Amino acid sequence: MRDALGAVQSVLVLGGNSEIALAIVDRLVEGRTRRVVLAVREPDSAQRSVDRLTAVGVDASAIAFDALQPETHAEVLGAVFAEGDIDLVISAFGILGSQPEFDADPMFALRAINANFGGAVTSGLIVADHLRRQGHGTLLMITSIAALRGRADNYVYGSTKAGQDLFAQGLGDALVGSGARVVVVRPGFVHTRMTEGMKPAPFSTTPDKVAEVVVEGLTKGRELIYAPSILRYLFAGLIHAPRLIWRRLGG
Ligand SMILES: NC(=O)c1ccc[n+]([C@@H]2O[C@H](COP(=O)([O-])OP(=O)(O)OC[C@H]3O[C@@H](n4cnc5c(N)ncnc54)[C@H](OP(=O)(O)O)[C@@H]3O)[C@@H](O)[C@H]2O)c1
Repeated sequence: MRDALGAVQSVLVLGGNSEIALAIVDRLVEGRTRRVVLAVREPDSAQRSVDRLTAVGVDASAIAFDALQPETHAEVLGAVFAEGDIDLVISAFGILGSQPEFDADPMFALRAINANFGGAVTSGLIVADHLRRQGHGTLLMITSIAALRGRADNYVYGSTKAGQDLFAQGLGDALVGSGARVVVVRPGFVHTRMTEGMKPAPFSTTPDKVAEVVVEGLTKGRELIYAPSILRYLFAGLIHAPRLIWRRLGG
């Protein structure tokens, strides 16, 4: 439950090894966050993060969660909320892939769709139901600027994030008046395991910088956060640019 100052006390991370999500958690822990649940495919893989958080006095744990097993989501998430209220759920799991990999293996494309979009929808609907019943709490959905326009070099990933982004926007509107809310985060290129070895895009940033912008946005009650913030202004124009320009960008 948020404390008297409205600060986040409990956090659930779906995709709990995400470098972006862990940077957000680290910032929140510097504040008043005291319970963190990392939902990951292999709980052992999050042990170092659990130990690190426990060492600074956080009630931290890792549980098994697979975005590609939607039939398990109700039970897994229900067990977390049964242990106590959750103030913030960060939906951070994702598969990037590359367009050549998707072209060569359409079943891999389907897995990316099922994880990034399908898993975000099933877990998002279940989380929303719990937050609605609590009467408070935020679902922070990490989408991407790749969601904004189709590009030749990443249109499978981009379309999964577009579906996730649109879902999150609609869910946010559906929750108005319930006390719960949805915040959409659209990062640009972030230096994490996901982008290792890739050529950085303009305005590339770090998980820590994303976390700074996100926590500031949460504090200010924003519904939509770009990271870095300059992308909001850049894309206000770029999103309407002719396809010819986008063809060149996606070369
Ligand atoms: N990095 C960027 O440039 C960038 C830009 C825009 C948006 N994003 C989005 O930001 C989010 C976090 O990415 P990140 O940069 O922090 O990368 P990351 O550190 O690689 O985190 C992605 C996480 O997704 C998890 N995951 C993959 N498939 C899963 C599944 N089926 N079930 C549960 N978890 C699964 C991975 O878990 P394991 O630890 O088990 O592998 C990994 O921890 C993603 O949604 C990504 O699409 C990233």
